[in-house]
This record gives sequence, structure tokens and C-alpha cells, in this order.
Amino acid sequence: MNSNRTDGGRLRPGLALVKESAMALVELKHVSKTYREPGGAVEVPVLRDVTWQIGEGSSVAIVGPSGCGKSTLLNILGTLDEPDSGEVLFEGESVRGCSAERLSLLRGSKMGFIFQMHHLMPQCTVMENVLLPTLALPKEMRDAGAVERARDLLVRVGLEGRQQWLPSKLSGGERQRVAVVRALINQPRLILADEPTGALDEKNATALTELLLELRQALNLSLVMVTHHPEQAARMDEVWRMHEGGLVKEPA
Ligand SMILES: Nc1ncnc2c1ncn2[C@@H]1O[C@H](COP(=O)(O)OP(=O)(O)OP(=O)(O)O)[C@@H](O)[C@H]1O
Ligand SMILES: [Mg+2]
Repeated sequence: MNSNRTDGGRLRPGLALVKESAMALVELKHVSKTYREPGGAVEVPVLRDVTWQIGEGSSVAIVGPSGCGKSTLLNILGTLDEPDSGEVLFEGESVRGCSAERLSLLRGSKMGFIFQMHHLMPQCTVMENVLLPTLALPKEMRDAGAVERARDLLVRVGLEGRQQWLPSKLSGGERQRVAVVRALINQPRLILADEPTGALDEKNATALTELLLELRQALNLSLVMVTHHPEQAARMDEVWRMHEGGLVKEPA
């Protein structure tokens, strides 16, 4: 007998509320990170005892001055870098002690990365670039629908008819849209975007942010975007400012 259910089989309202309250997709628990100068003489504390979480389906902006640790935070969230102390949990499971293969699989299947520079392979077509992350998955995890999905996503971002083009023939905004599709091709749960609009003019920057938010909504993803542009940050559900190694929520 399931005690969470009423006789009618529906969840009791109170319990349903608990169930629906933003489940954490990624959690940081007491995470600290300090870099050391080569030789180890000078220490650069970047993250200090950060406890923070990103809810399922939420969009979050990270802001703060250059060098405050935004990329470091993103790299730790994305398991590209390890904290000195504290824990990172993805879907409730700690990633501490995971092998490089396991982390690579986690990143490849659950996370999509977008950077300031698109990092597209210049010799590969748009379609080939978009499909590259599928090759990083083990054979048994590759699905036959990837090409179809790539086509659909390219239409969705306004790049129908560009599948066979080389990146050099595309505008900056178009290249970033290819990078967005590439980040989405393995159907991730989390998009980590480090200044994705940094190299775009305002019109293209706004269009890219809107596109990311629209896809986040449609695909029920969580989105974390580092940005120096207050107007792009303000489009997210939450804005967090990095300050002295911690994260402070900006008033809505
Ligand atoms: N691999 C590294 N080795 C040593 N120091 C590092 C390393 N990576 C980052 N740092 C230092 O850590 C601090 C935070 O860097 P980080 O790249 O996270 O800043 P940021 O907020 O992303 O800056 P920006 O807005 O310029 O991209 C800086 O002082 C930087 O010099
Ligand atoms: Mg950075």
C-alpha cells in the first residue's frame, strides 16, 4: 500500500508539492578551490566553501568581474575540474572518486558545453560538427535517431539548408547556433555555457540567449550561463553574483 496516495490514487496536494519542489540536478557541497602559482609560492583562493544547487529545469546566470572564478565554477559543475575539498553531486550522486571514463560518460550523455568561441572543427561540415559528440559515446549508447535529431534541431535554430556548409562560411551568430545544436545532440540534462554571447553583437547575443531559453523550456533542461552582459543575465530565472569566492543571489 502506497501511503503517499489517497484512495482515489492521486497524490495528496501537500505531498505533491514536496515532490514537485525543484529537485536539484547538480549540487555543490562545501566546495573550495585554490590555485597555486607555478612553484607553489602564491595561492589564489577562487571558491571558498560554496554550497549551492541548480534545480531541474531552471535557468541561472553567473555574473562577476573578470578573474572572480566563474569559469572555475562552471568547470567544477561540469566535472572538467576537481575541487580541493567538498563534493559535487549530479542527480543526487557524488562524482568524487569516479574514474575518468565514468566522468567522460557523464559529461557526454548528461551535459552540453557552449563556450565563447564556438570551437567548431573547420574542416567538418555543420552536420559533421553537430554529430561529433555522438562519437564520444560508447557504441551501445549511440542512438539511431541522432541524424534526425540533428536535422530537427538545425531547423529549430534557423539553419535549415546549411547542413553541408563549412563553419568558415557562417556568421558568428550562426556558428554559435551550430555550437548550441552540438551541445544538445546527446539530449543532455544540463547546459553549461561560458560567455556564449561574448563574441556576438547585442542583437545576436539576445537572439542566442532567447534561443537557449526556448530550448531549455522545450527540452526541460537546466541552463547555467556565465555572462558579462546584465541584460542577458536578467533573462534567466535567477542571477547569482560571484563575490569573494562565494555566490550571492541578486534580487529579482
Ligand atoms: N589552471 C589555473 N592555474 C592557476 N590559476 C588559475 C587557473 N585557472 C584559473 N586560475 C586563476 O583563478 C582565478 C579565476 O579564474 P576564472 O577563469 O575562473 O575567472 P573568470 O571569472 O572566469 O574570469 P573571466 O571573466 O575573465 O573569464 C583567476 O585569478 C585565474 O588566474
Ligand atoms: Mg571565464
